[in-house]
Amino acid sequence: MTDSADPTAGLDLAEQAALGSGASFWTTKAVGPVPAIVLTDGPHGVRRQSGSATDHLGLSGSEPATCFPPAVGLSQTWDPALVERVGRALGDESRALGVHVLLGPGVNIKRDPRCGRNFEYYSEDPLLSGTLGAAWVRGVQSRGVGASLKHFAVNNAEHDRMRASSDVDARTLRELYLRTFEIVVRQARPWTVMCSYNRINGVYASENAWLLTTVLRDDWGFDGVVVSDWGAVADRVAAVAAGLDLEMPTTGGISDAEVVHAVRAGTLDADVVAQAAGRVARLATKATETAGTATSFDVDAHHQLAREAAQRAIVLLKNDDDLLPLEPSPLAVIGGFAQEPRYQGGGSSHVNPTRLDVPLDEIRRFAGDHPVSYSPGTDVAAAVATAESADAAIVFLGLTAEEESEGYDREHIDLPAPQLDLLRAVVAAQPRTVVVLSHGGVVRLDAVAGLAPALLDGALLGQAGGGALADVLFGVVNPSGRLAETVPLRLQDSPAYLNFPSEAGHTVYGERMFVGYRWYDARDMPVTFPFGHGLSYTRFDYSGLEVTATGEGLAVHLTVTNTGTRPGREVVQVYAGHPGSAVGRPVRWLAGFGSVTLDPGERSRVEIPVSRADLAYWSPDAGRWVLESGEYLVSVGASSRDLRLSASVTVEGDEPMRPFTRESTLGELLADPVAAQTIATVLSSASPFGTDDSALGMNLLRMLESVPIGRMAGFSAGKVTGEQLDELLAGINAQRA
Ligand code: BGC
Repeated sequence: MTDSADPTAGLDLAEQAALGSGASFWTTKAVGPVPAIVLTDGPHGVRRQSGSATDHLGLSGSEPATCFPPAVGLSQTWDPALVERVGRALGDESRALGVHVLLGPGVNIKRDPRCGRNFEYYSEDPLLSGTLGAAWVRGVQSRGVGASLKHFAVNNAEHDRMRASSDVDARTLRELYLRTFEIVVRQARPWTVMCSYNRINGVYASENAWLLTTVLRDDWGFDGVVVSDWGAVADRVAAVAAGLDLEMPTTGGISDAEVVHAVRAGTLDADVVAQAAGRVARLATKATETAGTATSFDVDAHHQLAREAAQRAIVLLKNDDDLLPLEPSPLAVIGGFAQEPRYQGGGSSHVNPTRLDVPLDEIRRFAGDHPVSYSPGTDVAAAVATAESADAAIVFLGLTAEEESEGYDREHIDLPAPQLDLLRAVVAAQPRTVVVLSHGGVVRLDAVAGLAPALLDGALLGQAGGGALADVLFGVVNPSGRLAETVPLRLQDSPAYLNFPSEAGHTVYGERMFVGYRWYDARDMPVTFPFGHGLSYTRFDYSGLEVTATGEGLAVHLTVTNTGTRPGREVVQVYAGHPGSAVGRPVRWLAGFGSVTLDPGERSRVEIPVSRADLAYWSPDAGRWVLESGEYLVSVGASSRDLRLSASVTVEGDEPMRPFTRESTLGELLADPVAAQTIATVLSSASPFGTDDSALGMNLLRMLESVPIGRMAGFSAGKVTGEQLDELLAGINAQRA
C-alpha cells in the first residue's frame, strides 16, 4: 500500500486501539475520518452475508455469487493467467456485493492428504502454490479489492487447529511452508495477510513477532495489514506487540480496552498501537476510495468463466485404448454425483452459487437423440442392468461433503467401499466404463485405476463443473489439467503418516521439506499417479532442450510438437536437482513451468525461465538463501515421473565464505582446495595415528574426518600447539579470502 496523508493524525489512543478490532462479524469500525470496511470469504466465491445471521463455518446463507472451482480444481489448471482472470471476476463480484477485502487465497502446503481443508489449498509444491496464489491476488486487487493471503503460517491440519504447535526446523519453514507466502507477498503485494490459528514452534501465529514482523515485514517488505483469522487472538496485547494490526471478528471493545490499559501501564509501546492503527486506516481509505458504485456483475459471463476454469482443471488420469472422448451413443450414467454434483467444500468458503450445472443434464444434451439411462448406483443390480444396456458407462465416484471439510481431518483416504463394489460390478458388465471423480482431498485410486479403462479427475469444479465434464467427456475440450498433488499407493506411504495429526499439542514435521513428490522421489517409492500427471487426447513430443545460465537464473528452451490428431494444450514442467549439494536436498523439485497450445503437427519453441531463488536453499547458519555453485541437473517433462529430456548446467553461486576455526573438522578442511594441501602436510608430520591405513584394513581418513582440527592438535602430543594452529588457519583464511 502506498503511504498517503495519515488518516489517524489526531486520533487518541482509545480510537487507535478501536481501529484494531472488528465492529461486527465482517466489518471494521468507522473511527473519526477512517471509514469502515467489509471483509468476507473467499476464496473461490464471495460469501457475502448481508442478513443478521453471520458465521464463519458455512452455516447461514449468503448472497448468490459465482462458485468458481475451489483451489484444488484451480491448481490443476497450472494456468496463472486463467487464475488471474478468475481473480478479476471475484474482484468484480466483491465490488458488486459491497466487499472491500476478499479473504483468500489459501496457500498452505498440502502436507498430508488427510487435512480436511486441502480442497481450499493449491498444492504440495510451493512454486505452484505461490505462482497461482500470486495470480489470484493480482486479479482480485486489479479491481480495487484487497486480498487476504492465508493462513499464515504452517496451518496444515484442521485437528486442534486453534491450539496445536507446528514444530518445524528453520530450513523446512523457509523452503516449503513460508516459501509459498513469500512468493505471493513479493510478486503480488496483497493488501492483507491473515495469521493462522495454530502455534509455530510453540508461539501462536498471532503473537509471533518473528513471523509477523521479522519475516513478513523486515525480510519480505510487506507493508499491508495483518488480520487475525476469525478468533485466532488469544492475547490481543501480545498480538499487537508482535505485529498484528486487526483482530477479527468483533470483541465488543473488550480487547481494545486491554490495549489501552497496557499502553497506560507501560507494557505496550504506544508507537506500535499507532502504527497498527495507521495501517488499518490506510487500508480502509484505499479500499473505500476504489470501491466504486457497481451493484451487479455479469452472472452469465462469470458462469462461462467458471466453466472454462473447470474445463482446464479436469485431469485425464487414464485412457486405455482411447476410450475417451465418447461419441454420442446410448449411454449409462451411474452414481449420485451425476445428479447432485459435489462441487465445493464445507466451511467458511461455502458459496451460494448463482446456478448449478448438473452433469447428467449436460451429458444428455451432448448425447442428442441417443438414450442416456441413469442409475443412482445404490442398487447394484439396477446399475449393472443400466450399464449392460448401453454402449458405454460413466460412473461418478467420490467423497461426500460430510467426509471432508474445514474443521476436521479425514482418518483415511479410501473411497467408500460400496463405491468400489459398484464399480467392480459395472465394469464386469460393461468394459467401456469411464470413471469421473469428485473429491476435495486425495483419494486412494489403485483399485479404481485397476478396474476402469478411463479415469477423469474432476476434484471439485465449482458451479459449472457439470458442463465442463460433459465438454471433456465428448471431446469438445481436450483435457490439459495436471495433478497438483501426488496420489500415493496407500496412506501409509505418505510423508507425514506417523506425524499426523498433532499429539499432546504438537505436530512434529519430522519429514522436513520432503513433502509430496519430494518424499516419494527421495525414497524411490511407486505411486499411483505422480505429481504433474495428466494425459491428453493428443500427444506431444519434446526435443531440443537447451539450458543456459543467466544473471537471473536459468533460461530453459525446448521444442514441443503436437504429434497427435487434435489441437491441445501441453503443460511443460521443469525440474531441477543438485546431486553434488553439500546439504540434503530433494532429488528434484519443480523450478518452473509453462504451457503451449498447438494444432496437430504444429511445433513451438518454448522458453521457461528459472529464477536463482528457485534453485537456492535456506541456510540457517548464514541466515539467508544460499545458491550453491556447481552442476545442476535440469529435466523437462510431462510429470515429475515422465521426464523427457535432461541437461546439466553450471551455476555460479553465492556461498558465504565461512572462516575456518579450531571447530572446523578435518573433513571440512580437506574438502577445501586451499586448505587441503596445508592440512595434509600437517597431518603427515603431526598425526599421532600416522596416515598409512593400508595394513589396518580400514579407512583412517574417513574415521578422522569428523574430528575438529583443534582436537587433532591436542592429539599431536605437543608437536602442533593451539597457537600454531590458529596461525595456520589464519593463513588459510587469508588465502581463501
Ligand atoms: C477460517 C478462515 C476464514 C475465517 C472467516 C476461519 O474459520 O479459517 O479461512 O476466512 O474463518 O470466515
